[in-house]
Amino acid sequence: MRGMRPPGPRGLPVLGSLLDIRRDPTGVFLRAALRYGDVAYFTVGPRQGYLITNPADVRHVLQDNARNYQKSPLYQKLRLHLGNGLLTSEGEFWLRQRRIAQPAFHRQRVAGLADVMTTAAREAATTWDTLAEHGRAVDVDEEMMRLTRTVVVRALLGSDLGPYTDRIDQAWTILNEFIGEEFWSLGLTGWLPTPRRRRFQAARRLLREAVDYVIAERRRTPTDCPDLLSMLLAARDDDTGEGMTDEQLRVEVTTFLLAGQETTSLALTWIWYLLSQHSASLARLEEELDTVLAGRPPEYTDLVNLPYTRMVIDEALRLYPPAWGFSRQALGDDELGGYPLPRGWIAFVIPFVMHRLPSLWEEPEAFDPERFSPERSADRPKFAYVPFGAGPRQCIGNQFALMEAQLIVATLAQRFRLRLVPGHRVEPWPLITLRPRYGMPMFIDKRM
Ligand code: HEM
Repeated sequence: MRGMRPPGPRGLPVLGSLLDIRRDPTGVFLRAALRYGDVAYFTVGPRQGYLITNPADVRHVLQDNARNYQKSPLYQKLRLHLGNGLLTSEGEFWLRQRRIAQPAFHRQRVAGLADVMTTAAREAATTWDTLAEHGRAVDVDEEMMRLTRTVVVRALLGSDLGPYTDRIDQAWTILNEFIGEEFWSLGLTGWLPTPRRRRFQAARRLLREAVDYVIAERRRTPTDCPDLLSMLLAARDDDTGEGMTDEQLRVEVTTFLLAGQETTSLALTWIWYLLSQHSASLARLEEELDTVLAGRPPEYTDLVNLPYTRMVIDEALRLYPPAWGFSRQALGDDELGGYPLPRGWIAFVIPFVMHRLPSLWEEPEAFDPERFSPERSADRPKFAYVPFGAGPRQCIGNQFALMEAQLIVATLAQRFRLRLVPGHRVEPWPLITLRPRYGMPMFIDKRM
């Protein structure tokens, strides 16, 4: 074993790197990884831990020794606001919930949802036809939010959000900003009855009402469709035979609504941005779509024939991973990169940082989809690329998200080209997810 403690930023007394991280989380972690190497020591307020960027250490924490880790206390804020659901729970309870939801995400079941995804994308295309004719810029982040919300609500919950449809995206933006900004705080001010907090509470109420609406609608008119919501409603405890409580149902539906919409939407927003900046990649994508689809909408069976489309998605998830960082807390003493990690300390896994390290990626800042071709991926350690996490807590929706992104990009890039409003500043904003700080206003041009 090496010395007792790896190198890392000194930080302030008591607060450690807390203020720096609050100001610029991705920048602080990236600079630390570049300066200190595989393992960097951090103190964040009362907590201590290591930023780990070596794929072998990441594999150890997320997969091989996953039993020794739980989601870190930083998730408590998420748990407090969203409830103890699949994303935030632990142990036996988590395993039970994961087993209930898992069948809804089997490959074949997900493949069966392709039509829902292309139909929603074609509806968006119809709106875009009109927008293109008027020549007005649109907020692509809002467009994508609406589209992925429609998909997740139809595909997993088999319904729509009725009277809440138009207000739900804004509510989630308010939640994301509030929780995201609170995330690195010591919780000293979050409870103050400021206008910001009142807006946050109103957003939470709206979300809750919307979820109750979806559940009540399904109870009123049950369907034979074996979607996620039916599975959640039908689940019975092996020992007691009881179903989930209304509160637990609400928490899980909220989890899926948010986890399923937000991340995929951001992935798409970053894809449109990157394509607008890289004309050679755009041309290559359009050529693939024109050759394989010849103007018809894509279907599930087309996906294997659209490898470049998939590489564009993989590369966008590398540069702008929507779940930009997560963390674990050690339940017992461990060792990482040759340094002892005491029980209770935190391991930070930051995909945004890992995906930009020159030790793992050639020209990491360049947008180069073909780095994901089979030939060029062959020698890359699997855990160098973790946009969906890894191990038992890996994203349950990753196949769903990748298929959705591929079908949406194929449907829309076939017919439209997006142009960033000239002079608009684009900056990643690491809240809970990685949003564009100033939105993504773009012009829509028709291709055919
Ligand atoms: C590009 C899109 C997506 C990205 C980048 C993403 C990323 C992630 C990551 C990194 C985790 C693990 C977090 C951790 O280990 O702490 C996760 C977990 C999760 N994701 Fe996703 N996700 C995406 C799409 C989706 C979709 C479409 C759904 C549902 C339809 C979904 C539902 C979930 C759930 C329920 C969990 C918790 C799983 C568990 O702990 O058992 N995600 N996601």
